[in-house]
Amino acid sequence: MLPTQGPTPVTRFRRTRQSPAIRALVAENTLTAADLIWPVFVRDGVGVTEPVASMPGVNRLSVDRVVDAARMAADLGIPAICLFPYTDPAKKTRDCAEAWNPDNLSNQATRAIKAAVPGIAVMTDVALDPYNSDGHDGFFDNGRILNDETVAALVKQALSQAEAGADIIGPSDMMDGRIGAIRSALEGAGHKDVLLLSYAAKYASAFYGPFRDAVGASGALKGDKKTYQMDPANSDEAIRLVARDLAEGADMVMVKPGMPYLDICRRVKDAFGAPTYAYQVSGEYAMIRGAALNGWIDGERAMLESLMSFKRAGCDGILTYFAPEAARLL
Ligand code: PBG
Repeated sequence: MLPTQGPTPVTRFRRTRQSPAIRALVAENTLTAADLIWPVFVRDGVGVTEPVASMPGVNRLSVDRVVDAARMAADLGIPAICLFPYTDPAKKTRDCAEAWNPDNLSNQATRAIKAAVPGIAVMTDVALDPYNSDGHDGFFDNGRILNDETVAALVKQALSQAEAGADIIGPSDMMDGRIGAIRSALEGAGHKDVLLLSYAAKYASAFYGPFRDAVGASGALKGDKKTYQMDPANSDEAIRLVARDLAEGADMVMVKPGMPYLDICRRVKDAFGAPTYAYQVSGEYAMIRGAALNGWIDGERAMLESLMSFKRAGCDGILTYFAPEAARLL
């Protein structure tokens, strides 16, 4: 039961808002660089910084430039960087073998970062879409996703990422059973300290559009991802998915996208108290950045306000393309 508030003037809420000092004393949440995970796009080549058209300010970086980016992020106090490869279309196949190639772009970047900037945590993505000529996160046959065959491939992919030195593995594929399968494979291979950050409540969202451009998956995708990603109408299902993934061995869980799903963040945090993250996805970034570039909103303030909303909703951290910019301001 909340205490009853006296009538004005016994209670004047404006007393606690009167100055920056008093506002700081009563602030319920804080946002710091330590709350941020920075997703970056990796491409081949040397010395390459290639802008992503639908995400102004975001680039695809060659491995040497990703190492520079990781160093900058570490200097800004950002604890983790998350790698997404842009794969040469010629290496995309139906069997997705590039996904577990020890020398694929993601694994090259992981090794290079761990060698040069050991203090930053490297997170990697488990899903077949960057390597799949069908554009899906799993094997696709006759219009259907093959769940269990995909899980076997995801295990190989996750093991190759752990071998390369990934600290945190993020399965984003939404196949059933992948967390348990990956966890037991990691234990079996001696990777007992590798963290699993499950994309547990990932919705089939229009807000991923710019990301699919960034990793070159837009053109390839056949149909949509509604048979594996969640229906935006559902909320109880998200709780059941998080419960399942925690039981199967996830150390941390994610809600994705972010701002349209703050209610899910709050429910997940309240229900489990587990380390909970939101992914402020590419479309959310593009909306804020696009409006700011048009002079329609104050970009810096909108960015920080959006990031604070995740902390208020109970998240322990946020994956955001704004990470370095936000860290500089914080
Ligand atoms: C796919 C994946 C997606 C994102 C991260 N991993 C896109 C999708 O599910 O189609 C989206 C991230 C973003 O939009 O910023 N495995």
